[in-house]
Amino acid sequence: MKRVNQIYRHPVFQKKYLALQEAEKDRMFCKHTLEHFIDVARLMYIYSLEHQLSISKDVIYGMALMHDIGRIDQIQKGIPHEKAGAALCDAILPDCGFTKEETDIIKASILHHRNAANDDKNPYYHMLYWADKKSRNCFACDMQDACNWDEEKMNLKIEY
Ligand SMILES: [Fe+2]
Ligand SMILES: [Fe+2]
Repeated sequence: MKRVNQIYRHPVFQKKYLALQEAEKDRMFCKHTLEHFIDVARLMYIYSLEHQLSISKDVIYGMALMHDIGRIDQIQKGIPHEKAGAALCDAILPDCGFTKEETDIIKASILHHRNAANDDKNPYYHMLYWADKKSRNCFACDMQDACNWDEEKMNLKIEY
């Protein structure tokens, strides 16, 4: 997991992450914290085991750490966060030892993470989409009525 820790410690990641935490500190809806990123990583790893996908843990954790880091550019500059996140992959992942092929897989999955619905055939895209949605405890959220998620996306009860 050396490369994953290098992402977390990368100065560009740290700068974006800290700015995002500051920008979202009073946010009433789901925040984009390290807890969310690690929840998504663990859910993706479970998904990969259940679907017998042989995907490296570094790619899974890299995808999870990077998938919402672009939210700060969405807040500050209006750039959709999947696009900002994909661009940040190029600034961070090669420095951490990820190959071009791995970086491209992570980038493409991030670009699709908001719209790769259940019928998406690409296992990487669907894994990230699924884990991202499943990570949220909508059933225990006070903001459920004001949330912009469609009801079928919401986790309205504990499921496994
Ligand atoms: Fe996102
Ligand atoms: Fe997310």
